[in-house]
Amino acid sequence: MSLGELDGGQPQLAYKPQLPQNRTMGIGIVGAGEIVVHAHLPAYRMAGFRVIGIYDANPAKAEAAAGGDPSITVFPTLEAMLKHPEVQIVDIAVPAKFQPGIAIQAAQSGRHLLCQKPLAESYGAAKELVRACAECGIKAAVNQQMRWSPGIQASRSVVKNGWLGEPLQASIQVNVRTYWENWPWLTQTPTLEVMYHSIHYLDSIRYVLGLRPEYVYADGARFPGQPYRGETRTMIHIKFPGEARGLVHDNHNNRMPQDDWYATFRFEGTEGIVKGTNGALYNYPEGREDTVGFYSGRLELGSLYEPKLEGRWFPHAFMGTMGELMRAIEENREPENSAADNLITLQTVFAAYRSMAENRAVYLEEVDA
Ligand SMILES: NC(=O)c1ccc[n+]([C@@H]2O[C@H](COP(=O)([O-])OP(=O)(O)OC[C@H]3O[C@@H](n4cnc5c(N)ncnc54)[C@H](O)[C@@H]3O)[C@@H](O)[C@H]2O)c1
Repeated sequence: MSLGELDGGQPQLAYKPQLPQNRTMGIGIVGAGEIVVHAHLPAYRMAGFRVIGIYDANPAKAEAAAGGDPSITVFPTLEAMLKHPEVQIVDIAVPAKFQPGIAIQAAQSGRHLLCQKPLAESYGAAKELVRACAECGIKAAVNQQMRWSPGIQASRSVVKNGWLGEPLQASIQVNVRTYWENWPWLTQTPTLEVMYHSIHYLDSIRYVLGLRPEYVYADGARFPGQPYRGETRTMIHIKFPGEARGLVHDNHNNRMPQDDWYATFRFEGTEGIVKGTNGALYNYPEGREDTVGFYSGRLELGSLYEPKLEGRWFPHAFMGTMGELMRAIEENREPENSAADNLITLQTVFAAYRSMAENRAVYLEEVDA
């Protein structure tokens, strides 16, 4: 195929979040912490989604998040939110240990769900959540919004168009400094980096390749004197069917100033490559735009093609996760980011932890309740 055969002579990358036709579906938010204030609410404002109200166990947090907007109700209890006839989707953003209970209660009231990652703190609890949602006949999705970050969505588009040929290799490498004490409830968790950060990379790699991992081999380490209990340095090797492989290499202890930090991704296939940077981790916390470049032997590109991308992992990609759930409701199909699909990402996470503990390759099938 030549470039001339493509729209406007340029390869078209469909990377922007797709939105539903009906943006009036009512959203009730549970949890009014950092991520809701800085990502969910700004993204929903951009998309024109309709937030009916917010409930938080700490009412002052809910009040602050609502910010005096008269169209947003501050609910005193979860039950009060679930009684509101216009709440169709419950959007949960609380620490993972509280999520399954809230999700099942909301599902039993007939509401569709957008859950935060990680879906639960154990695979068994996540499986039970998925089972309960299926029994209630509602749609349940997970906020693995990195799938809708511009660089990852563009990479997925390159793979889907066949421009990479057969996908063979994926790597995501991050070297930054993270102050986990900004989330006090994370400092004492024994499972830190993979469960709360690299979970996005594991999910994005399998999403872009369109493949299910067979097994993982992982190592996790701490940094001398770190005030956190869990691992802050991770290396995860992922074996996919056939010759495809993935690598996540993550360090959150970089002692250099930010100009040394990096967050890169690269996917390779039999016919080409796509690579780029994850802008959210540059110029932190402001971030910058993602970058992407690709080369394909199936196109007459000559050299790396580097289209400019608009939007960011935070907050724009949050339009993608909620938008996909709403489109799935409209079209009566399962969302791409369904909770059932997310069980595979969680199996990969728990397989990585078992691999660290037992110093061996762990098959996903070994992870079950
Ligand atoms: N998708 C992402 O990229 C991303 C990024 C950051 C955080 N998260 C996830 O979002 C969730 C919240 O993270 P955060 O950074 O906003 O944390 P946070 O600590 O800032 O806020 C959590 C909020 O939940 C409230 N809360 C706790 N238990 C509750 C309960 N039982 N009912 C109602 N409210 C309750 C707290 O009062 C607090 O306001 C976590 O699960 C986290 O893993 C996801």
